[in-house]
Amino acid sequence: MKIFLDTAEVAEIRRAAEAGLIDGVTTNPSLVAKVAGDRDPKELYREICEVVQGPVSAEVVGIDRDTMIEEGRKLAALHEHIVVKLPLTEAGLKACRTLVSEGIRTNVTLCFSVSQALLAAKAGATYVSPFVGRIDDISGEGMQLIHQIRQVYDNYGYDTEILAASLRHPTHVVESMLIGADCATIPPKVLWQLSKHPLTDRGLEQFLADWASLGAEI
Ligand code: G3P
Repeated sequence: MKIFLDTAEVAEIRRAAEAGLIDGVTTNPSLVAKVAGDRDPKELYREICEVVQGPVSAEVVGIDRDTMIEEGRKLAALHEHIVVKLPLTEAGLKACRTLVSEGIRTNVTLCFSVSQALLAAKAGATYVSPFVGRIDDISGEGMQLIHQIRQVYDNYGYDTEILAASLRHPTHVVESMLIGADCATIPPKVLWQLSKHPLTDRGLEQFLADWASLGAEI
């Protein structure tokens, strides 16, 4: 499963990329607004694309099809790593179809139902982003959506990749893997949480204490 970092914070992206742990980055307008400040977001996207050797999702903000297409072309022209993120609306699906026909990769986002995911695949999306945590937030079963999309895509052989999004904790990531999501996008905090286990800390402490009793060097 591919791991994408869900952030626009360049320092965090660099930290994870240097460790060789991420396959790409996803952003959204809220994540960009948090970090861009006075900076031109296009510059920020370019910098992110230089740091990570993989797809970088950058989202359109127009709401009609033609504006989305125009913005999508501009974003894709910024760097070869850019994947154009489009909302799962009628206009977004139409824009997706056009951009895909021009060879531009797309990530159809804000997906909350299997029927929406079906249309994303029909529109030729490279990725679909079902938002697990936000469904959990309203007392739904976010993981169930990943299950069902996996089943539908497998039943009919759609090659749109399932990019599990809005993942809030390590269990979300593990469950996405067990279901067979193609990718998971996770915030930096969750990425590093994946490495933690109290028995690892306790075991290491013991190993180091025993070794110290030898008074030896390697
Ligand atoms: O990039 C989309 C996404 O992962 C949003 O997550 O936590 O804001 O629901 P969240």
